[in-house]
Amino acid sequence: MAKLQVLDHPLIQHKLSLIRDEKTGSKEFRELVEEVAMLMAYEVTRDFPLQEIEVKTPVAIAKSKVLAGRKVGLVPILRAGLGMVDGMLRLIPAAKVGHVGLYRDPETLMPVEYYCKLPSDIAERDLIVIDPMLATGGSAAAAIRFLKDRGAKNIKLMCLIAAPEGIQAVQKAHSDVDIFIAAVDEHLNEHGYIVPGLGDAGDRLFGTK
Ligand code: PRP
Ligand code: URA
Repeated sequence: MAKLQVLDHPLIQHKLSLIRDEKTGSKEFRELVEEVAMLMAYEVTRDFPLQEIEVKTPVAIAKSKVLAGRKVGLVPILRAGLGMVDGMLRLIPAAKVGHVGLYRDPETLMPVEYYCKLPSDIAERDLIVIDPMLATGGSAAAAIRFLKDRGAKNIKLMCLIAAPEGIQAVQKAHSDVDIFIAAVDEHLNEHGYIVPGLGDAGDRLFGTK
C-alpha cells in the first residue's frame, strides 16, 4: 500500500483554519490556498533524489547537492486545482503543468471529464495531481486513471482536505499512489460535501456560486 501522509506542520494547520472560515473572502482564500500548496510542496518533494556537485565559493570548493535532474509534472484538476498551481511552481519552477477538467455531476456525484491536456512526456515525469478537495474520491481516481491510461507511472496526489471515504476510494483504485493531505475531516454529507470541510472550493476560489 502506498503512503498516506497528513502534513500537520503548524503553518499549514494555521492557514488551513483561515481557509475554512466562511468569513474569508475570495482574495484571501486564493492567497492562502497558494501559500498552503507551497508549504505542502516542500513535503511532497522530500524523496526527490540529489546528486553531489562541486561549487566554487569565494573561499574554497564545496561539495554540495542539487536535484538529480528529475522531471516533474503538476496536474491540477480543474477548476479548483488551479488555485494550488502557482504556489507549487514557486518551489518547483521547472515543472510542466498538465490540466484535467472534471466536474462532479450534482445528482450522481460521478466525475464528468471535459478537458485533458498533458505534457507529451508524462511517462518520464514524476506527476503530482492537485486538488483542494478529496470528497468521494471519484474525481481524483478518474484523473489518475486518465494519466495512467496515457502512460504515467509515477503519480502522487496532494489535497488540502479529505474525507475518509475519498482516501479509501483512491487507495482502493490506485494502491501505488502516495496521498498527501493537510487534514482528514469527519464525513461526507448527503450532497457529497466534506463536513466540516471548507464549502465549495471552486466557488470560494473564483467567487462563483
Ligand atoms: C470539486 C473538487 C474536486 C471534487 C471532489 O470539484 O475541486 O475536484 O469536487 O469531489 P469528489 O472527490 O467527490 O470527486 P467540482 O466537481 O465541484 O468542480 P469545480 O472545481 O469545477 O467547482
Ligand atoms: N467539492 C468541494 O468543493 N467541496 C466539498 O466539500 C466536496 C467536493
